[in-house]
Amino acid sequence: MAAIEIAQWGGPEVLQACRRPTPKPGPGEVLIEISAAGVNRPDVMQRKGLYPPPPGASDIPGLEIAGKVVALGEGVHQPAIGESVCALVTGGGYAEYCLAAAALCLPIPKGLGPIEAAAIPETFFTVWTNVFERGGLKAGESMLVHGGSSGIGTTAIQLAREFGAAVFATAGNPEKCRFCEQIGARAINYREEDFVDRIQFLTEGKGVNLILDMVGGPYLQRNLNCLAVDGRLIVIAVQGGPKTEINLLSIFLKRLTLTGSTLRPRSVKEKASIAGALRQKVWPLLESGQVKPVVHRVFSLAEASEAHRLMESSQHIGKIVLTVA
Ligand SMILES: NC(=O)c1ccc[n+]([C@@H]2O[C@H](COP(=O)([O-])OP(=O)(O)OC[C@H]3O[C@@H](n4cnc5c(N)ncnc54)[C@H](OP(=O)(O)O)[C@@H]3O)[C@@H](O)[C@H]2O)c1
Repeated sequence: MAAIEIAQWGGPEVLQACRRPTPKPGPGEVLIEISAAGVNRPDVMQRKGLYPPPPGASDIPGLEIAGKVVALGEGVHQPAIGESVCALVTGGGYAEYCLAAAALCLPIPKGLGPIEAAAIPETFFTVWTNVFERGGLKAGESMLVHGGSSGIGTTAIQLAREFGAAVFATAGNPEKCRFCEQIGARAINYREEDFVDRIQFLTEGKGVNLILDMVGGPYLQRNLNCLAVDGRLIVIAVQGGPKTEINLLSIFLKRLTLTGSTLRPRSVKEKASIAGALRQKVWPLLESGQVKPVVHRVFSLAEASEAHRLMESSQHIGKIVLTVA
C-alpha cells in the first residue's frame, strides 16, 4: 500500500511517500480502506521525534481515519465488512489502509462525509475524556479553553456550549477570535489583552469552573488565578514549555484540582468506554448538525508535508485533513 513515513526526525520535508505491506488484522481488529485521515498537532510532535508511538503502534503517523471496513480479525462481529466508519487509531492513518481496534470504530455520523468524519475522533475523544469525564463540566458552569481556534478548541467550545456551559476561549488573532465567537465562545485575543484580567471582568470576579489548557508552564499560575472555588485545571499539552514555579496557596485556598491526560497510550478498553459515551451523547448532536467538525483545509496524502507546514504556521482554524484517493 502507499503510505507516508517519517524518514528521520525533522521538518515537514521528512514526511516521505513509501510502500509498505498492507497490514493484516489481529484479534479484535479490523482493516480499514482509508478515504480520509485527520492531521493533529501530535503528528507534528511525532515527526520531530518528541512523541514516539506507544509499543505495538505503527510508526506511520496519523491518529484518526475514515473509510470502509475491508477485513475482520478474529472475534470481530461489529463493524461489518463494507461498513463506513471513522476510527481512533494509535498510528498508521497516513496510508491507504490502516488497522483499528473494532471497539474504537464509530459509524460515520449521518449527514457527514468521510472528510468531516476523519476530523472527529482525536479531538472528540480527547475533549470528552478531559472536559466531561476528568473535569466533570456541568450545565450552568463555565469553561475557558486556550487555543480556541485549534482542532481541540473548536471541539471543546461546541461541546461545552451544547452541554449548557458558558464558554470563554483565547486565540491569537482577530479572525480566530471572531470564529470562536461564531461557535459560541466569548473570545479573548491573548496577544492584546491579559486573559486573567479579562476572565475576572467577564465572570464578575468569580473565575471559571474549568480550564482546558494546551500551553502549560507559562500559563500555569495565570490559569490558577482564573479558576473559581472548586475549579479544575486540565492540562493536555505544554506548547509553551513543561516547567514553571507556582504559588501553591491558591490550590488549597480555592480547593483547586490540577490534572491532565494524554489519549494515545491509554488502553483499548479505556478508549472504548469513551467511544461508547460519544456514541450515546455526542453522535446525536453531530447527526442533527448542532455540533460540526470544523475542517479548514484538505490536502491529498502526497501533500502531507504541506499539511504539516500549514499546521505549524498556525494559520488554520479547526482541522486539516488528508484525502486518500
Ligand atoms: N493530551 C492529549 O490527549 C492530546 C490529544 C490531542 C491533542 N493534544 C494537544 O492539544 C493541542 C491542540 O491540538 P490540535 O491538533 O488541535 O492543534 P492545532 O490545531 O495546531 O492547535 C494548536 C493551537 O495552540 C495555540 N497556541 C500555540 N501556542 C500558544 C500559546 N503560547 N498561547 C496560546 N495558544 C497557543 C494556537 O493558537 P494561536 O494561533 O491562537 O496561538 C493553535 O490554535 C496540541 O498541543 C496537541 O498536542 C493533546
